[in-house]
Amino acid sequence: MLTAQEERTTAQLEFNVRLIGARRRTDELFQIVKESALYDRPIPERHRIVFYLGHLEAFDWNLLGGRVFGLKSFHPEFDKLFAFGIDPVGGGLPDDRASDWPAMHPVQEYAAKIRRALDENLTCVSFDTLIDGFPLSTLLNVALEHRLMHAETLAYMLHQLPLDRKVSQKVRIPSDTNPLSPIMLDIPAGPATLGQNRSDGKFGWDNEFEAEAVHVPAFAIDRYKVTNQQYLEFMTAGGYERSELWEAADWSWRSTQNISHPIFWKRAGEGWLYRGMFEEVPLPSNAPVYVSQAEAKAYSRWAGKQLPTEPEWHRAAFGQRSGSECSFPWGDKAPSGKLGNFDFADWDPVPVNLFSQGQSAFGVQDMLGNGWEWTSTIFGPLPGFEVFPFYRGYSADFFDGKHFVMKGASPRTAACMLRRSFRNWFQPHYQYVYAGFRCVQR
Ligand code: AVJ
Ligand code: FE
Repeated sequence: MLTAQEERTTAQLEFNVRLIGARRRTDELFQIVKESALYDRPIPERHRIVFYLGHLEAFDWNLLGGRVFGLKSFHPEFDKLFAFGIDPVGGGLPDDRASDWPAMHPVQEYAAKIRRALDENLTCVSFDTLIDGFPLSTLLNVALEHRLMHAETLAYMLHQLPLDRKVSQKVRIPSDTNPLSPIMLDIPAGPATLGQNRSDGKFGWDNEFEAEAVHVPAFAIDRYKVTNQQYLEFMTAGGYERSELWEAADWSWRSTQNISHPIFWKRAGEGWLYRGMFEEVPLPSNAPVYVSQAEAKAYSRWAGKQLPTEPEWHRAAFGQRSGSECSFPWGDKAPSGKLGNFDFADWDPVPVNLFSQGQSAFGVQDMLGNGWEWTSTIFGPLPGFEVFPFYRGYSADFFDGKHFVMKGASPRTAACMLRRSFRNWFQPHYQYVYAGFRCVQR
């Protein structure tokens, strides 16, 4: 038996280990950026890279510095400048200039000061302390998972940075497996549980509460994510030129932006290259295609299919024939490297059929890892939603009918976010995420 004091110490040590690991993840991403590229904006809709150098620490500071530790800011202007990312709706793009941003060194110094101050204060506070009615451990998980989410968003952002602006790493993009037979699997009608209950006492973001039990009618779902090869067939069939395959708003996006292929592809003579994180390779046929939701919907319509709803996705991933549900597609044991391409295992996707051990009870593969999956469900609150008072905008700012739920995980999604209730979301025209899709038929 551990004494109460020992239990507290253990919780603190565990958190410390995770925090050090998460900081290492984000620090190593900035090592990929050549110094001359720090003020680049690899994704037109997002901030310049330098913003994220300040953001990760500013976020922790804004959450914890004053509220938990009663500390006085050492740079109120930076606290504000680096507080929030951007996600413009309606096509408007940011027009700030590189010279509008502070130099690198003051930002690094600001970040280092925050780390030191928070670390000092973290050693002498109980994780059970209530902050705005929540235990401190909840706020610490928010800080930690926020950082880990940016370890992923930064990776896909740097993915778009031209190769000559990055410090190259030796990575291996796996070669193709044998041709696949893409089949659909029947999922019988049954229950799906979205979200989780507060009374379970587990960490989750505000949008994960409360649990909601949904009855899902029978449907069929693709065993694998849609591959580059399958998507190429859609393109060869004129998918990007046929307006009838696209919803009106998606077609006008496709037309005004001149979209004619996935952003992760690059034309090479008659064929295509896949733009990997550190190298360009001939298109891997059996890797999942990464596309926007608009492109995924056009493909689905061409194939005579549709995108799954969030409940359908849950049912296919976690449902059992018995009617009960598991924590993960493969059962209830903790995630490991044999079960899927996640937890920073790779910089790029691998073939969709490599992880048969990770398949769901219905035989659906790769539901966690190797790329998020678009659903047709608009991102919104579950019944019993309550905003986190210490971070009001996290989800609620995006309950605008313009964001869609993504489920699953990518190669760069941390293991802690593989929990069943975790929900991700983006706008339908956002092409940069490590996200693909699979289709359903009803
Ligand atoms: C949950 C991934 C959609 O990147 O916009 C990071 C995560 N929110 N900082 C995003 C987030 C604030 C968010 N996603
Ligand atoms: Fe953020």
